[in-house]
Amino acid sequence: MPKVIYIDANGGEFEAEVPVGQNLMEGAVDNMIDGILGECGGVMSCATCHVYVPKEWEDKLPPASEREEDMLDMAVDPQDNSRLSCQIEMTEELDGIVVHMPRSQF
Ligand code: FES
Repeated sequence: MPKVIYIDANGGEFEAEVPVGQNLMEGAVDNMIDGILGECGGVMSCATCHVYVPKEWEDKLPPASEREEDMLDMAVDPQDNSRLSCQIEMTEELDGIVVHMPRSQF
């Protein structure tokens, strides 16, 4: 099963297996990884699943939808590489993807 590496604001690394088809927010919640709450259940209305995606992985993701961009504008400390992890669906190609969790979610 493909893996995701979640890194918190202090550099703590947490590795989780996330099934293909599940999104990275669900993968974090199912594995009890602090820092990603997913309060809205993935319907893009909370931004508690905000992550920063390193460039080498960002290029492998489909672009954010307009609605995701709008929600990210309301997130705390958005950056150019911000994404909502509930909108990143796991694929075999994303095996080993790294996402960083913002300090505001620490
Ligand atoms: Fe609420 Fe992603 S879980 S926006």
